[in-house]
Amino acid sequence: MDTIILGIESSCDDTSAAIIRNGVMLSNVITNQDVHREYGGVVPELASRAHERNIIPVVHAALTRAGIEKEQLSAVAFTRGPGLMGSLLVGTSFTKGFAAGLNVPMVDVNHLHAHVLAHFIKEHEEDDNQPKFPFLCLLVSGGNSQIILVKAYNNMEVVGQTIDDAAGEAFDKCAKVMGLGYPGGPVVDKLAKEGNPNAFTLNKPHIPGFNYSFSGLKTSFLYLLRDELKKDPDFIEKNKADLCATLQATVVDILMNKLRKATKEYGVKEVAVAGGVSANSGLRQAFEDHAVKYGWKIYIPKFAFTTDNAAMVAMAGYFKYQDKQFCGMDATPYSRVEI
Ligand code: KG4
Repeated sequence: MDTIILGIESSCDDTSAAIIRNGVMLSNVITNQDVHREYGGVVPELASRAHERNIIPVVHAALTRAGIEKEQLSAVAFTRGPGLMGSLLVGTSFTKGFAAGLNVPMVDVNHLHAHVLAHFIKEHEEDDNQPKFPFLCLLVSGGNSQIILVKAYNNMEVVGQTIDDAAGEAFDKCAKVMGLGYPGGPVVDKLAKEGNPNAFTLNKPHIPGFNYSFSGLKTSFLYLLRDELKKDPDFIEKNKADLCATLQATVVDILMNKLRKATKEYGVKEVAVAGGVSANSGLRQAFEDHAVKYGWKIYIPKFAFTTDNAAMVAMAGYFKYQDKQFCGMDATPYSRVEI
């Protein structure tokens, strides 16, 4: 019998629903929330209100596009955390009502787990380019920077993580002080293509083990601007591309350094990248270079699966469903969690 999972993602500012049948994606509908743009960051209260408006039409569209009737669903998987509490509550509450109405089990999914398992989404039956266990996954997003040792679908260990800001946060905050809008990561990426990555020098952290730190880099970037703006008020405008190229190269270098160390420590050559920052062209290129230089077998997600999406939630839900790991009606969302 087919296993058909509806996935629901509402952890931050994207409302998404997807259908996966026997591990193959049939639909993945994502509604972004433009309402935050003018505030330069996600406003939690506005995000939960937008989720409330979006969730029913998004689920309806996911079912329609997949050509699946809701009565055919085997289970409903939803992001339980981490994320914004109000946003998570919308997805969790919807799932409870929907699953109860259909009399199917609920599967709670860890959002970070889901980002890693996005690598197993099949768009076609014959897709077979999936990481082999154990593999290392660099998970880099607006809220997380982690190195995860993935031993099995439902068995992961965080071997390193940021002790302060995430890589995406560093991109976004540095972009903000340059007046590049929100989210700044993609803009930095675009401008970096025209700039010189060695134009300036930024501080790199000295943190033991496989952990990361990006707060010092942010401060170093801020001080560079402060000092140079004193000499020339048009400094940012004149050096935007070089500033972006330097910032991007430094972030990528910090990320790859620790990841390289981790591959040596764990004797792993299967290496994946996931999360919003995995869309970054400099990081993607660094992965390609490492594949050649160190013999890594690399897994870089399609752009559609780098940002928050419900296909990855449905995929993670599919693996938990197979292990019969369901949750009850008393499941409450969590805003912070370790894998
Ligand atoms: O995983 P994600 O969609 O969600 C959150 O963690 O909220 O990641 C969003 C992050 C943002 O910080 C955004 O600036 C960053 O991913 N990002 C990028 C690029 N595309 C998205 N950072 C650098 N280069 C990009 N091309």
